[in-house]
Amino acid sequence: MILGTNELASRFEGVFGVAPDGVWQAPGRVNLIGEHTDYNEGFVLPFAIDRTARVAVRLRPDSTLRMLSTFGNQGLTTADTGALDRSTARGWTKYPLGVIWALQQRGLPIPGLDLLLDSDVPRGAGLASSHAIQCAVISALNTLTAAGLRVEDMVLATQRAENEFVGAPTGIMDQSASLRATPGHAVFLDCRDQSVRLVPFDAEGAGLVLLVIDTRVSHSHAEGGYGSRRESCELGAEVLGVKALRDVGMEDLEEASGLLDAETFRRVRHVVTENDRVLRTVGLLEAAGPEAIGPLLDASHASMRDDFEISCAELDLAVDAARSGGAIGARMTGGGFGGSAIALAPAGAEPQVRAAVERAFAQAGYAAPDIFSVRPAAGAMRLA
Ligand code: GLA
Repeated sequence: MILGTNELASRFEGVFGVAPDGVWQAPGRVNLIGEHTDYNEGFVLPFAIDRTARVAVRLRPDSTLRMLSTFGNQGLTTADTGALDRSTARGWTKYPLGVIWALQQRGLPIPGLDLLLDSDVPRGAGLASSHAIQCAVISALNTLTAAGLRVEDMVLATQRAENEFVGAPTGIMDQSASLRATPGHAVFLDCRDQSVRLVPFDAEGAGLVLLVIDTRVSHSHAEGGYGSRRESCELGAEVLGVKALRDVGMEDLEEASGLLDAETFRRVRHVVTENDRVLRTVGLLEAAGPEAIGPLLDASHASMRDDFEISCAELDLAVDAARSGGAIGARMTGGGFGGSAIALAPAGAEPQVRAAVERAFAQAGYAAPDIFSVRPAAGAMRLA
């Protein structure tokens, strides 16, 4: 359970001896469809979930940083805004430190600050818990320092924090969802120019439920798999003579298969078909509603499993078991190599879907998954 605004502010005062200047929150996300397309300048369709990071923040007159979270055992971390060091940054503090560093790189001087973090976004579950922290922090700093950044600038600054300070070569999807989402909608984002169309996604209204199945296989995009997929995509684009794989269409795949080695071709085929699936999902949501998109979710998972090869046994089992329990579509979500799957199911079938997944995991000897429903929630905001 996330702490309420007043409770977080009063805990802040208990720790730091003064009231915060304000409290901000930013959500985690589920990606409905469009995986590993963002850094290929393609399309994604995430939504913000009703799980958020919250920060109480107060600017200081000096350059001292003091940071504490309500979870974990890291204790109070101190640093100096004049001497940020990515090699010594530990745990969750990498995220606020990375944001401050990225803002400095833009020529924005950031003073010292006191910060207390709370979050109920599951960590390591592929739901962008780190981006939720970064987006809450950058929202706070943008307001408190009157930096005047547009949302597109905040997206790029948090991406730079993640790429260059944290060391994960990720795209812009997660922070775009966290900063730009609105309740009841998915964020249809064109990652080439950051243009957004909000697409109604009302699973509940259609008698459906969107379940997250956290496999508890934890992953990190600062490790090799994510980066090597990105390199394959860049190689594919180079060989095919395009700026980014966004520029390769379904009709180009046959020719591409003759130009690329087999593995690179499979990686490229995933990105090209996934972009197409995002566009078709948007079309179906707008024309027919969520009950129509199940087959596209299934096809997306198959493509990630077979062509992009970023699934794992637990994710495949979660998807298969959810389908056998009555889900109308299911896929892994996020960067892969662990984390969560999503399943779209008739509301009445939720108990059977849960039971099917739990049973399958128990039979396979896997740790029990965490299964919960999510609905499209608001993006980052100031609470106090
Ligand atoms: C992670 C990254 C995103 C995106 C997804 C895969 O969540 O942070 O930028 O690349 O993986 O779609």
